[in-house]
Amino acid sequence: MTADQLRELYLKFFASKGHAVISSASLIPENDPTVLFTTAGMHPLVPYLVGEPHPSGTRLCNCQKCVRTGDIEAVGDPSHLTFFEMLGNWSLGDYFKEEAISWSYEFLTSPDYLGFDPSRLSVTIFEGNEVVPCDDESRAIWNRLGIPDERIFALPIEDNWWGPAGQTGPCGPDTEMFIDTGKAACGPDCRPGCSCGRFFEVWNDVFMQYDKQADGTYAKLKQANVDTGMGVERTVAMLQGKSTVFETELFTPILAAIEAGCNKQFDGDPETQHAFRVVADHLRSSVFILGDDRGVRPGNLGQGYVLRRLIRRAVRYAKQLGLDEGFAAPIAEAVIANYSHVYPELKRNRGHILSELMDEEKRFAKTLTRGMAELEKVLERMAEHNQTTLAGRVAFNLYDTCGFPLEFTEEICNERGVTIDRAGFDKAFAKHKEVSKQGSDKAFKGGLADASVQTTRLHSATHLLHKALQMVLGDHVQQRGSNITAERLRFDFSHPDKMTQEQLAEVEKLVNGAIEKDFPVTMEPMTIEQAREAGAMALFEAKYGEQVKVYTMGDFSKEVCGGPHVGRTGELGHFRIQKEGSSSAGVRRIKAVLE
Ligand code: SER
Repeated sequence: MTADQLRELYLKFFASKGHAVISSASLIPENDPTVLFTTAGMHPLVPYLVGEPHPSGTRLCNCQKCVRTGDIEAVGDPSHLTFFEMLGNWSLGDYFKEEAISWSYEFLTSPDYLGFDPSRLSVTIFEGNEVVPCDDESRAIWNRLGIPDERIFALPIEDNWWGPAGQTGPCGPDTEMFIDTGKAACGPDCRPGCSCGRFFEVWNDVFMQYDKQADGTYAKLKQANVDTGMGVERTVAMLQGKSTVFETELFTPILAAIEAGCNKQFDGDPETQHAFRVVADHLRSSVFILGDDRGVRPGNLGQGYVLRRLIRRAVRYAKQLGLDEGFAAPIAEAVIANYSHVYPELKRNRGHILSELMDEEKRFAKTLTRGMAELEKVLERMAEHNQTTLAGRVAFNLYDTCGFPLEFTEEICNERGVTIDRAGFDKAFAKHKEVSKQGSDKAFKGGLADASVQTTRLHSATHLLHKALQMVLGDHVQQRGSNITAERLRFDFSHPDKMTQEQLAEVEKLVNGAIEKDFPVTMEPMTIEQAREAGAMALFEAKYGEQVKVYTMGDFSKEVCGGPHVGRTGELGHFRIQKEGSSSAGVRRIKAVLE
């Protein structure tokens, strides 16, 4: 079975169980300051998991593009990827454990669907803690379906609890499904979740009943939801009897493009294979990030930084393979060709993808030249003083400040008979990691689970701002990103020039005028075509025929949006723009508050 067949079969199966098929959301989250990328299919659905009604009903399914870079260092092993596709089905306060588990089992084992031999299936369940008891209910359902206790493993919260990457929001115990690859057990404790590669996790059913608060406590959600996620790449590998995701048709054309650029074969020695995998994974992710309609570019902050890191890591491993400068473009072309029939945005944004990759390669080449010169200076000084150990702090500085990879430092030092104080480097690195972790864990308040009065008001103000910008600057103004915390809104939009003071004042005046008129805010569900016909501003995501919600604010604004919103614009108070600046080429950014 191919990935194309798997996607189709999955959506067909869940449609037959009353689920509406919805589109993949953008990889760049909207309105959400807590995460950089969409990390799971449930992420864009958070508002609906916490109670907002979804226009397509209470049973949904889709295939979602996801990026997770937390395990970036693990890429290169048989299963870790930074970009992956996730098939998912959701119950928004509709069905619960019984149906979710039975359908997972049916889809995995029925000869009409995936047809895995049930004896290859092992599952895990939540063992319980002081907040939530052991999930005996799921165990009983698995037992009844024919999975014996020997293949049901009760595991702690670290393994069998799922919540979104932003830490707060809907979460709950899960039951994970693993396919036994048939490899020998690595030891007596070998079990699902073991890193030896014997068990491949393919699917996760999460029973979301809790809402994790910023203070770490769990509130009960208004509704009990189901959130499931099946990894396309892993499942396809298992269906095709492959032992890694890289041997499937999702990767073979990409690996072939890498082979064509160097004198090496993918199935060479383990180190070569590892480098092939990293280049393939990182460029695939970069193509999807660059190819997203919410256009991201490499940079030093946020999404742009992650993208830069992916491209630069790919360059580093490409060098190891002997690929020449300019290597990325033909590989990116292979990714675009392999995926455009499912994700047409890649074709649409091909020019942007290729030019950004080439520019970043060039910028990195410059960085390397600079880093090399810096290292040479240090080595010369050391030679004058007969020193043969490079201080860890210096190696870390080269890495951190100059962007010069440690491997390069090591290689050059090796040639000169100089050793690196690895312990010192690790210490500096750990310290840096601690600092940056504090930065990222200090999750902003807000996020998609936050339907507090203030974020809702800022969300409604964003609609007024969007419309006012179009009125003042022209119809070319399109939303490129939105990020809302409890304190302020941040809105990115396409516009080539810096806004003048007069334009900013005019926008403020229009928004405040719409607030003073105290327009009622109404919502109407309709198809995306009807929404466009009604003149609603709509982003690109919804597919033909898909149900969306249209929010109307008097005769001022009409926009497709998930909500929630205030009841009347008069609730917003006074709108003030704090700052207007550049976000990236051709994109401006406004920060504004309600007072
Ligand atoms: N959100 C869950 C996961 O990512 C199920 O989709 O595993």
